[in-house]
Amino acid sequence: MDILQAFNEFEVAALAAIEAASDGAALEKVRIEYLGQKSGRIRDLQKLVGQATPAEKPQVGKRFNDVRTVVAARLEARVEELKTAALKAAADFDVTLPGERPVIGRLHPITQVMNEFRELMGRFGFTVVDGPEIEDERHNFEALNIPEDHPARDPLDNFYVACASSLAGGPVLLRSQTSTVQIRTMEKTPPPVRIVSLGRVYRPDTIDATHSCMFHQMEGLLVDRRVTMAQLKTVLSQFARSFLGPEVEIRFRPSFFPFTEPSVEVDMKWGDSWMEIGGAGMVDPAVFAAVGYDPEEYTGFAFGLGIERFCMKHFGVDDIRRFYENDLRFLSQF
Ligand code: DAH
Repeated sequence: MDILQAFNEFEVAALAAIEAASDGAALEKVRIEYLGQKSGRIRDLQKLVGQATPAEKPQVGKRFNDVRTVVAARLEARVEELKTAALKAAADFDVTLPGERPVIGRLHPITQVMNEFRELMGRFGFTVVDGPEIEDERHNFEALNIPEDHPARDPLDNFYVACASSLAGGPVLLRSQTSTVQIRTMEKTPPPVRIVSLGRVYRPDTIDATHSCMFHQMEGLLVDRRVTMAQLKTVLSQFARSFLGPEVEIRFRPSFFPFTEPSVEVDMKWGDSWMEIGGAGMVDPAVFAAVGYDPEEYTGFAFGLGIERFCMKHFGVDDIRRFYENDLRFLSQF
C-alpha cells in the first residue's frame, strides 16, 4: 500500500534527522519540519489517512498514530541526551588547566635600552626631548660651529634630501648626529638646561659588524652657571655603571669636536680592549653665541653616545647588523 510506504519513509527520514541534530536549536528545527502543527510533514500524512478506503482505514489510522508517537518520543529523548552531554562537557572542563598562551611581541632590544637610558638619565635630573630627523644645515652644522669647509659637511658624507622644504628654505639632510637637538633646545629655552635626546642618525658609512648607515645616539646637554668637566665625568661614569654594572671601566681621551672645548672621546673596556662609545666635552662658547646664551655667564657640558654599542655590550651581540635584520629568532632572545 502506497500510504504505508509514505509513512515508512517519513519515519526513517525523521529519525535520521533527529540523530543528526547536534544541539537544541537544530533539534527544534527538525521538530518543526516533521511534527509542526501548521506546516510540518506530519500534516501530509494526516491527509493520506483521509484518503484511505474504509477497509484500509483501521490499519492506516493505527500506523499513523504509531509513527507520530515514535518520532515524538525519539525527539524528546534526544533533547534530554543533548542536555546531559552539554552538562557533562561543562563538568569535564578543568578550569585549573593552563590555557594556551597567545604569542605576544616584545620591544626591540634597542628600544629596551633606550627606555632604560631615559629612565637612568631621568634619575640624574635630565628631561627627555625630541628633535626632527630631517634637519637644516644651521642645526646640523652651523650653530654647532662646524664651518662650511669642514670635512663633516661633505655631501658625500651626508644624506642630503631633496624635498619641498629644501627648495624653499635651503638644503636639508637626514641628521648625522643628535647634537642638533642641543641647538633646538637652547633656541627655545633660557638656561639652565638639562636634557637628553635619543634617536636615529644617518651616515653613508660602509656597513660592517660595527657600522650601520642608520644608528641611534643619546645626546646630553647640561648648561648652568659654573658647570665643570668633573661633573661631566661623574655623570658619564655613573651612568655607564648603572647600566652595565659597577665594575665597568670608562676612560676619557683628549679629542676634538667643533662644538666642545675641551673635547674628549669616551671609551669603555670591552674584553681586553677599549671600545669607543661616544664623544663629550665642555660646550664651546661659539655654540652659546649661536643660540644667544651669554658665554661669560654660562658654561655647560655635552655628550653624544652610540646606543648600539651599549646594546651590543649589554646583550653580548657581536654584529650590529643583527639588530636591523628583523629576524625573530634573534630578536625574541631579548
Ligand atoms: N655628535 C658627535 C658625533 O656624532 C658626538 C658628540 C661629541 C656629541 C661631543 C656631543 C659632544 O654632544 O659634546 O660624533
